[in-house]
Amino acid sequence: MSLVYVLNGPNLNLLGKRQPEIYGSETLADVERDCRVLADELGLSLRFHQSNHEGEIIDWIHEAREGAVAIVINPAAYTHTSVAILDALNAFEGTVIEVHISNVHKRESFRHHSFVSLRADGVIAGLGTEGYRLALRRVASLAAKA
Ligand code: DQA
Repeated sequence: MSLVYVLNGPNLNLLGKRQPEIYGSETLADVERDCRVLADELGLSLRFHQSNHEGEIIDWIHEAREGAVAIVINPAAYTHTSVAILDALNAFEGTVIEVHISNVHKRESFRHHSFVSLRADGVIAGLGTEGYRLALRRVASLAAKA
């Protein structure tokens, strides 16, 4: 089974409670459950994590170097600030898909720049929490071609 890390950055633990007009009413536990159901169908094995701490996210990216085929990452606010997460992703050889629940390009200009996009193989923004599942489908189709 292909191993995929799904990583979530700061404040995403508040999904469903935090600005629901922007991020919707589903919780991160709902997102994880739906990702696991789909991963089973697609034959993917998941590690699903969230942290409010940059270093912890970096440690998971390092861990993914040992055997994961892909990282699906919503770095949240670190998207726009973190050279350290970009550097960690540059040390990962598999597929990287960046996911944003909201359409960051429709929002404040500071959200228009992403350090992570310099590494990401694909970017999904504005498709709500469905973006995570679409990213997993892409990972599965790439794994089938490999
Ligand atoms: C986000 C967009 C970021 O700009 C923001 O800081 C987040 C969530 C999204 O999923 O839309 O926390 O990554």
